[in-house]
Amino acid sequence: MAIIKKFRIKSYKENKPLLAVKDISMSFEKRQILKDLSFEIHKGSIVGMLGPNGVGKSTIINLVCGLISPDKGDIFIRGQKVNDIPIFTRTSKYNLSVCPQYGGYLFDLSTLDNLKAVGEIRVKNQRARSERIEYLISRFQLEEVRDIKARLLSGGQKRRLTIAMALLGEPELLLLDEPFSFLDIKSIINIQEIIVKLQTENRITCVITDHQISALLKICDESFVLAEGKVIAKGTPSELIKNPEAQSAYFGDSFKIN
Ligand SMILES: Nc1ncnc2c1ncn2[C@@H]1O[C@H](COP(=O)(O)OP(=O)(O)OP(=O)(O)O)[C@@H](O)[C@H]1O
Ligand SMILES: [Mg+2]
Repeated sequence: MAIIKKFRIKSYKENKPLLAVKDISMSFEKRQILKDLSFEIHKGSIVGMLGPNGVGKSTIINLVCGLISPDKGDIFIRGQKVNDIPIFTRTSKYNLSVCPQYGGYLFDLSTLDNLKAVGEIRVKNQRARSERIEYLISRFQLEEVRDIKARLLSGGQKRRLTIAMALLGEPELLLLDEPFSFLDIKSIINIQEIIVKLQTENRITCVITDHQISALLKICDESFVLAEGKVIAKGTPSELIKNPEAQSAYFGDSFKIN
């Protein structure tokens, strides 16, 4: 497989965090999922959020974008507390985009019309919007299915459409929930390249969760592992896979990046 990223960005560590999650707790029907969870994401970094099924990764993404509210704790973006800012205002004011784990598109609209629908909201200038849509259709190899209803696309094509929709407004903070699921090998490499290019050229900040660990760790500057509602380990990919707590909670002891 091609080497996607030859370096890890270190300079971002000097900056104030773009996103800070502080002492968040969250329960669903008396089942506590997150327990005083805290972490920080620095501008311009690509960060992996790892952990076993059901640990709360998608819940964290929903909390950050404002789809749900925490029982306790605060969320800060650019140093401002955003707990009380509703999802639409939060995503537009802070230029935040999300690619959800499931869905994220309108079933009965074509590929093109899904992109147009979100483009109307995210890109005000009509010419810039059309150019951005055409660029994304080409970059995500969606030409063949541009006029096909989204519900009729293959699993990988649906995934590519949702990621393309998340990139329409050239976000400052991008949250990707399992972007590599359903994707073939070439599509994974294509998306890795797109994310790294966004980082190097646009200083986009990206939080990604995925169980395709090798694909994910190849593009991450650092990652953290969640277990029992908290961050139990963090570091660069090579540090993390050797970390005994991370091995015990998630990787196992024989995992290697291939
Ligand atoms: N709205 C809800 N009501 C009740 N339980 C919920 C709700 N949302 C999430 N949960 C529960 O919270 C836990 C965490 O779910 P979440 O989807 O965040 O896990 P995840 O880490 O993203 O897992 P996966 O790797 O399988 O995607 C699960 O046990 C889930 O059943
Ligand atoms: Mg999930």
